[in-house]
Amino acid sequence: MGSAPPWTAAGTRVAFLLLLFLLAVPWLGGAATAQQAAGGYRVVSVAGAGGLLSARLELAGEDGHKAELGPDVQNLSLTARQLDVLWAGLETDNRLHVRITDADHPRWEVPQDVIPRKAPSDIVLDAGTGASPISRVLSAATSDLTFTLHASPFRFTVSRRSTGDVLFDTSQALVFKDRYLELTTALPAGRASLYGLGEHTKRTFRLQRNDTFTLWNADIAASNVDLNLYGSHPFYLDVRSASPGGAGAGAGAAHGVLLLNSNGMDIEYGGSYLTYKVIGGVLDFYFFAGPAPLDVVDQYTQLIGRPTPMPYWSFGFHQCRYGYKNLADLEGVVAGYAKARIPLEVMWTDIDYMDAFKDFTLDPVNFPAGPMRQFVDRLHRNGQKYVVIIDPGINVNETYGTYVRGMQQDVFLKRNGSNYLGKVWPGYVYFPDFLNPRAAAFWAREIALFRRTLPVDGLWIDMNEISNFIDPPPMNALDDPPYRINNSGVHRPINNKTVPASAVLYGGVREYDAHNLYGFLEARATHDALLADTGRRPFVLSRSTFVGSGRYTAHWTGDNMATWDDLRYSINTMLSFGLFGIPMVGADICGFGGNTTEELCSRWIQLGAFYPFARDHSAIGTVRRELYLWESVARSARKALGLRYRLLPYMYTLMHEAHTTGAPIARPLFFCYPKDVSTYGVDRQFLLGRGVLVSPVLEPGATTVDAYFPAGRWFSLFDYSLAVATATGKRVTLLAPADTVNVHVAGGTILPLQLPGLTTSRARQTVFHLLVALGEDGSASGELFLDDGESPEMAGPRGKWALVRFSCATGRGGVTVRSRVVHNSYGPSRKLVIGKVVFLGLHSPSPPREFAVYVNGVRTANSTGSAQGHGYRRSEALGAAQVAGLSLP
Ligand code: GLC
Repeated sequence: MGSAPPWTAAGTRVAFLLLLFLLAVPWLGGAATAQQAAGGYRVVSVAGAGGLLSARLELAGEDGHKAELGPDVQNLSLTARQLDVLWAGLETDNRLHVRITDADHPRWEVPQDVIPRKAPSDIVLDAGTGASPISRVLSAATSDLTFTLHASPFRFTVSRRSTGDVLFDTSQALVFKDRYLELTTALPAGRASLYGLGEHTKRTFRLQRNDTFTLWNADIAASNVDLNLYGSHPFYLDVRSASPGGAGAGAGAAHGVLLLNSNGMDIEYGGSYLTYKVIGGVLDFYFFAGPAPLDVVDQYTQLIGRPTPMPYWSFGFHQCRYGYKNLADLEGVVAGYAKARIPLEVMWTDIDYMDAFKDFTLDPVNFPAGPMRQFVDRLHRNGQKYVVIIDPGINVNETYGTYVRGMQQDVFLKRNGSNYLGKVWPGYVYFPDFLNPRAAAFWAREIALFRRTLPVDGLWIDMNEISNFIDPPPMNALDDPPYRINNSGVHRPINNKTVPASAVLYGGVREYDAHNLYGFLEARATHDALLADTGRRPFVLSRSTFVGSGRYTAHWTGDNMATWDDLRYSINTMLSFGLFGIPMVGADICGFGGNTTEELCSRWIQLGAFYPFARDHSAIGTVRRELYLWESVARSARKALGLRYRLLPYMYTLMHEAHTTGAPIARPLFFCYPKDVSTYGVDRQFLLGRGVLVSPVLEPGATTVDAYFPAGRWFSLFDYSLAVATATGKRVTLLAPADTVNVHVAGGTILPLQLPGLTTSRARQTVFHLLVALGEDGSASGELFLDDGESPEMAGPRGKWALVRFSCATGRGGVTVRSRVVHNSYGPSRKLVIGKVVFLGLHSPSPPREFAVYVNGVRTANSTGSAQGHGYRRSEALGAAQVAGLSLP
């Protein structure tokens, strides 16, 4: 931790003592003020028009602030932009962009093609025309965000116009050096709940004060709490528990803050402040107005890119292991799942399949090409898929075609003029420089060539932080900059276990600046390669990610351990990646490292069955953990995955929502109940979409689970019973016997369901059910997205797809369900039928007289209401209701 700003509790005491001292020795007061100003800036000119303001800042006082970190930059330029009529199209009115950089020298910035945005240089305002250096306010009429520039000393604030709440306040002196930038914002301790700033494994989803979040992509096992891990996402969401006006007013307004910067950094969170300490680049802030949490992710992913659609099959269950010995081993696992009647959609293979760990090769003895091809063909005939791992390091070996071609095309990243030599699984390697367009082309060709041998359905890209088994010795100052970020929790040099910061990438870009982008760039190249080769929707799973990676890839949380703690923490990481625009995420089910136990594995599949990405994976040398190996685990798996497969139409509809609005698939409770401040700390439960609540067991020996239920009615998805009906949020102890996970649907939700199957394609052939869980007012709504599940675009203008909205209302005459097709370009080949509508939460003392089903305004099947259950809480309206002539492919 650095020194605490004076508004922390501890700092207040210090400030008070300092004040006493200054009062006693008044002639020292002036000196203290000057010292405080040193390193800070003042505004020397301001210009602005419309939604744009630009200012020139000058170093105030003497240089020498934190002198050990280098000289201060003398002149800075600041631009603040907001949508206004004049600048329509530049930013949206929900977004404010504030950028501070060296006024005289260009600096590294995240490349435009990583996050496409309006380049600041596209707009030139003459800032030096003598406008008076006074405070200015930028406040477009349509925006809820107000930017205020304070001239001397320089400082800026961002406020919410509608409530007056100050969201960001840079009250501490700004530090701007070549390799050290520091900026602090004050936060209203106690009112602000922050989430995000990853990638880290955290004990809680909500950020805890006095924590430092280091961002420097590293191959550090996910079982390490609070260390920098594989990805960098300098984005947080802040939900405020009440506006300054007081008691509960305005509770639940959320905003988001992105520092778009790819350099290494520490972010210190002190509860009442947040300090960014960044070792390069520029201060490029984006503020997202919200105010609903879903608005924040919508606005955020509008900037960084919407999550790429995932193929339908990727929502099935995946099995992997590091240490499968040979093809027979793989076949045994596939057979084991079939025999146990546990769904298996995707079989995976880790580096074991390669010849001496070389990418795009097959071990000729244990995984020979011919039989492997037959194996993959068999999987395909059975509606199953196959995915393999590839790592970025290309083995330096003259007899290896991939290496030879890479050398010919000169695609590897360099240091000191020659290819940088690293070491990973295959021994010595060179790494493709994915900033180089030739490297992406090389990669695409190797993937296409490999797919001729083995038509894999997706690719798993690992070790792309980049992981290096050696510690490159420093060569120049870049390798060990003056400020040592808290890499690996021990301020270890940034070079350790990775490519040196002094390496040089395409266009002269320094690894120092672009290090955190490697995984992003490799994911993009891999996604594009698969798309080009298959013409279908790619599936890529990447360990390393950056802002915007969701445009190309899914993510798993890396090397966890088979511990109850890591089971629990997986929820925090999953929810964080939802905020980061990477909704397809999950942890290694049953734990990667260490020996799992039967009970842990059983509870893990009960949770993991509801990760958006559900894969069982384990480390070599540990006990096997395929789900059929223990009868109790198999029972849990059949039950939990059975429900997942019934929910597939709903989950896939959530993928559509994620792709079009950025909404996470797995969401924290406060996303749907932002006014209920009790939800802000809930991280042992989560929602799928807005309607399904998962409350897993996370402790050994437990047979009950304490769950929080926000206001409303909640029905069990296993037996349809009304579990909770509450006017305010409520804690409830639920029974959770060994084979049971609690999953509830919120009243007011209509879930489209199908029947389970051992593969998603079989489940997709079954009849639809609508589960109508009525809210207290007798209404409910929901939607269903349909397409072939593998076309590259999802809901694109040329695509074939349908979106159906359902609504339900209860009146005197009975219950009416309506379906309205909002879009239908989905060519029919087979009628899609809703075979059954199940109503939950009917209140009436006698059965409703009538259940009517309308499709696009036309009454269809004369559904017969057959009431079941006690108190007519549950009824099933049987009879066919076609979804407006839609059909399955
Ligand atoms: C890394 C990955 C892990 C994989 C292993 C071997 O540790 O995170 O998932 O099994 O490498 O490839």
